[in-house]
Amino acid sequence: MDINVAEITKALRRQIEGFEQSVDVAEVGTVVSVGDGIARLHGLEKVMAGELLDLPHGVTGLVLNLEEDSVGAVLFGEVSLIKEGDQARRTRKIASVPVGPGMVGRVVDALGSPVDGKGPIESRELAPVERIAPGVTDRQPVKEPLQTGIKAIDAMIPIGRGQRELIIGDRSTGKTAIAVDTIINQKGTGVICVYVAIGQKKSTISQVVKTLEENGALGHTIIVQASASEPAPLQYLAPYSGCAMGDYFQFHGADGKPASKTNPGGHVLCIYDDLSKQAAAYREISLLLRRPPGREAYPGDVFYLHSRLLERASKLNDDLGGGSLTALPVIETQAGDISTYIPTNVISITDGQIFLESDLFYAGQRPAINVGISVSRVGGSAQVRCMRTVSGTLRLDLAQYRELAAFSQFGSDLDKATQSQLNRGKRLTEVLKQNVFVPMDVALQVASVFSGTKGFLDDLRVEAVLPFEKTLHRYLSSEREALLAEVRTAKKMTKEIEDGLAAAVSEAKKLYLADNPSAKV
Ligand SMILES: Nc1ncnc2c1ncn2[C@@H]1O[C@H](COP(=O)(O)OP(=O)(O)O)[C@@H](O)[C@H]1O
Ligand SMILES: [Mg+2]
Repeated sequence: MDINVAEITKALRRQIEGFEQSVDVAEVGTVVSVGDGIARLHGLEKVMAGELLDLPHGVTGLVLNLEEDSVGAVLFGEVSLIKEGDQARRTRKIASVPVGPGMVGRVVDALGSPVDGKGPIESRELAPVERIAPGVTDRQPVKEPLQTGIKAIDAMIPIGRGQRELIIGDRSTGKTAIAVDTIINQKGTGVICVYVAIGQKKSTISQVVKTLEENGALGHTIIVQASASEPAPLQYLAPYSGCAMGDYFQFHGADGKPASKTNPGGHVLCIYDDLSKQAAAYREISLLLRRPPGREAYPGDVFYLHSRLLERASKLNDDLGGGSLTALPVIETQAGDISTYIPTNVISITDGQIFLESDLFYAGQRPAINVGISVSRVGGSAQVRCMRTVSGTLRLDLAQYRELAAFSQFGSDLDKATQSQLNRGKRLTEVLKQNVFVPMDVALQVASVFSGTKGFLDDLRVEAVLPFEKTLHRYLSSEREALLAEVRTAKKMTKEIEDGLAAAVSEAKKLYLADNPSAKV
């Protein structure tokens, strides 16, 4: 018998090809059990955590659990069509969403598909929803202010671009209102905003969309929604998706090319409203995946859920284009209790918190910010200089006022100094009130705070403070444009600016009192 070398090689090659196909089994798995949007799969020995799976009927799986003899995945899509015995195939990809300028002005779901009925989104790029946060050397300290347009915040709890500031409070204390005001105030600043709505009612979300539209703020905003009616996996994913859509702009220049020293990156504001709901969704998934429950039944890695998201907020160094991503996570508390698991976690991850209180809200102090326990640990260095100067003593004055106010409830004979301190405090509190959806230019904020701290309001009746403020702002905007411009940009508060402000406030007060003589005490 002839031994033909070519034939043997061919036979061997066939064998080898066959061998590789049997290896392919590691790429395919079988659904062992399915329910509640969770599937357990057999096979898929090489699958990685976070990888996407292809299932029948266009269903996608996201691998979360890697166990000894099975794999646990959450499912997206027509989950009810998946049955035991269905095949799942590895994709070697991790969850990605479309990113780019085409997303701006749109409402999308957690997977980046449009839900606003405005047609398909033009986006050629996909970005993984998870990415490792920029390292220490890739960053620089925050140096530009992120103006919220809310007096109480910009004066006392200033936020810088790249910072993480928590908005925390019970339901209906104005958390979303602060977020929406801040988005509206970014109009014309070039800051792209991403509003991620997690676990909220659809009607609430559409209200936010409507408000943004009416205030001309949709043009610079992406809205990612995973409403309460959507499955837990989407609510878990939505903040990461929103962050991925946001950090595209941080890492790219206006031309769409990667940001660099010569191609400055963009500025982004991400709002996660709210992370308590995301944590609850994650708890639900984890329990279904049979992960061991820990404190408050949350899985052990719930801290990592929020830390890896919020660490992505950063101010990049100049070599990387100097872009920034500011994060405003929202947490809802129960009866003002911030010592439960999720609030303490997120407080420890962020650079400060804005604490909202129902009592203040119902007493008419709106925004209902508790100034005593609200802080911003990094934004001060980025604050507009004139604001920093005029608001210097504000916090202390208000703290003293609160103490005196509580004390003076018991006695009626107050000495003159105490009386005047109380009067001042009342007017300072009043001047920090602000309605929703009227964010205020920082120079006008400076004028308001200045008139309060310098005692110009002391001889006005408390009810007259806000009407007077209106007159003051109208007067400044029409007559003192140059002064306002200086206040916005000055490197420090000079004697001239201070004298200018004092003159302007006196003048406005004369105008106001001429029309409202009864406003004087
Ligand atoms: N500064 C404010 N002045 C007046 N009303 C406000 C203010 N902030 C919030 N509100 C109102 O309070 C209600 C609850 O606010 P919202 O932001 O939805 O609360 P949360 O998000 O904390 O549940 C809304 O109707 C909102 O218009
Ligand atoms: Mg809300």
